[in-house]
Amino acid sequence: MRIAATADLHFAPQSASALRNQFDKVRDSADVLILAGDLTNYGQPAEMEPLLNTLVRVRIPIVAVLGNHDYESDQQPELIRMMTAAGIKVLDGSAYERDGVGFAGTKGFVGGFGRGALTAFGEAEIKAFVRSSVDEALKLERAMSQLRTRKRVVVLHYAPIAATTEGEAPEISAFLGSSRLAEVIDRHGADLVVHGHAHHGKVDGRTTAGIPVHNVAITLLQCQQPPAAYRIFDI
Ligand SMILES: [Fe+2]
Ligand SMILES: [Fe+2]
Repeated sequence: MRIAATADLHFAPQSASALRNQFDKVRDSADVLILAGDLTNYGQPAEMEPLLNTLVRVRIPIVAVLGNHDYESDQQPELIRMMTAAGIKVLDGSAYERDGVGFAGTKGFVGGFGRGALTAFGEAEIKAFVRSSVDEALKLERAMSQLRTRKRVVVLHYAPIAATTEGEAPEISAFLGSSRLAEVIDRHGADLVVHGHAHHGKVDGRTTAGIPVHNVAITLLQCQQPPAAYRIFDI
């Protein structure tokens, strides 16, 4: 299966025609398109509607997770409803199988990596924050344990490892993802992990167990040679 993956479209209606051009050939080079969160800027249905009108033209199956920007207006249930009605498979702690390939996805959350990970100690507010990070790891665990396929793809918005966030300011590292996600991935095994969110990170990394992780934030892909709107993976 050839998988095209991108993230962080941060769609604005005035960029519809540019986006259409960027994706008009994706069906020639991929069987599935992954959108790894931050589809919109402010999580407004009014942003999602023209985006979906553009994505309809892609004409290959689309698998997506939401990102933090898609939560900004607290309208994520409506966004998911709209996306689902348009035929997009939205993963939120859930799994999807297609042509023998399993996709497990969730948004993920912040919290930091390795020794820099925040732990649930002290104030109730810290514990609630860490709880959100743990909950997203549990959602990924649930999604991955549902997969019965030999080939497995993990879709996240937040980064599961620090390596693909390198290039961002070190001060914000803990807000770019959580290594709790990578622990789950390593326990279950996967062939490919894609994420976004770290717009200025690095494209390639690996988990401790050696599973390939790719940051597909569109801003980052457009800085590569040659610049691209998505990356193609063969699994
Ligand atoms: Fe983003
Ligand atoms: Fe984001």
